[in-house]
Amino acid sequence: MTDLSLDWLNLVLRWMHLVFGIAWIGSSFFFVWLDNSLRQGQQPKSGVLGEAWMIHGGGFYFTEKYSVAPPQLPPELHWFKYESYFTWLSGFFLLGVLYYAGADLYLIDPNVLPLSAPAAIGISVASLILGWIVYDRLCKSPLGNNTALLACIGFVMLVAATYGYAQVFSARAAYLHVGALLGTIMTANVAMVIIPNQKKAVAQMLAGQTPDPAYGKQAKQRSLHNNYLTLPVLFAMISNHYPMTYGHPYGWVILAVVMIIGGLVRHFFNLKNQGRGQRYEFLAVSFALVIGLVFFTAWDPRRSDFAGDAGIEEVQKVVASRCTACHAARPTFDGIAEAPKGVMLETPQQMRRFAAAINQQAVRTEAMPPGNATEMTDEERQLLGAWIAAGAKID
Ligand code: HEC
Repeated sequence: MTDLSLDWLNLVLRWMHLVFGIAWIGSSFFFVWLDNSLRQGQQPKSGVLGEAWMIHGGGFYFTEKYSVAPPQLPPELHWFKYESYFTWLSGFFLLGVLYYAGADLYLIDPNVLPLSAPAAIGISVASLILGWIVYDRLCKSPLGNNTALLACIGFVMLVAATYGYAQVFSARAAYLHVGALLGTIMTANVAMVIIPNQKKAVAQMLAGQTPDPAYGKQAKQRSLHNNYLTLPVLFAMISNHYPMTYGHPYGWVILAVVMIIGGLVRHFFNLKNQGRGQRYEFLAVSFALVIGLVFFTAWDPRRSDFAGDAGIEEVQKVVASRCTACHAARPTFDGIAEAPKGVMLETPQQMRRFAAAINQQAVRTEAMPPGNATEMTDEERQLLGAWIAAGAKID
């Protein structure tokens, strides 16, 4: 397949992944909100947990939630599962097109660990499966009954996974894998617990029995986890645009803090919808953590100041040897069909135009060159930094 058709495949998969993801997270947010918004009706009905009135798109809707199941199974019952399955599938194919087909560029960083492509891909797939098994066992163990303790253990394990990925893959791939791991857990929760348990409950009803409330309880536990994981997983998916996060030497700390922020914000909305008050302190703490991250990412132990002078000739030499194999009107690097993100760095004018982006990608962080494909040295990064710090002059 040509590089360009691989780019198109990437585009179509990403588009699908976004659309399915919106449908999944949208419906999941809606149901969480609905659950949280249920109130006792005027006349309590047996088996009914609560009810809610809604208005949307020019009509009124009335919903009742049954604690276990209604007395009779309705003739038509709507299920919500394909949003989740297709989000995962499109995401996995996207991972394949980008990080597996382009393993040398995106997945592997020889400075982190000089893996072969098959080994790196094997580790990636195995880690997703293993992550699910460990999580699922934890939920089913006695620990699963203690939500707060389970959350703490889950968080520590997730941070450990983040740290572990960063010791194996490129920084960018490490972040993305945390997202892939969370996404896999969330979809597996739907496919392996939530939907099967709902099916069992329905089967019991059809057999004339009362469904076992344990099924609903297990499904609720996984659904609660998915709820708190939505914001962190979304961050991990968009993180590859922000090298100041994954590219930081303590990238795993940053990701851990972002996960806390995501959880706190979600918690604020959950409490608010349950009518348990507007606990703005959760938002305030999140905001303070974001500010903390701004300062933390500004501090980089590797390159804090840029002394010295760098002329455009020297800088251009560095860029020509380290960047333009890819960032040119006609890239020569194997697998690169056109200048990535439209960034061309062949003339001093182009270099000045992209100076801020160069600073972000190749000086402040080592996001570029990907996997340090062209073996850029620290001195060269210093040189670019000094040129940019002095105003990116081209004459
Ligand atoms: C091996 C090919 C390759 C080399 C060499 C390379 N880049 Fe890149 N560059 C890429 C790819 C691929 C992307 C797009 C990444 C993505 O999809 O997010 C990119 C993106 C960028 C971006 C845009 C980032 C964004 O998200 O908008 C900048 C700026 C950049 N590179 C600068 C550099 C600099 C500076 C160098 C040299 C020090 C360099 N690159 C070397 C492949 C390369």
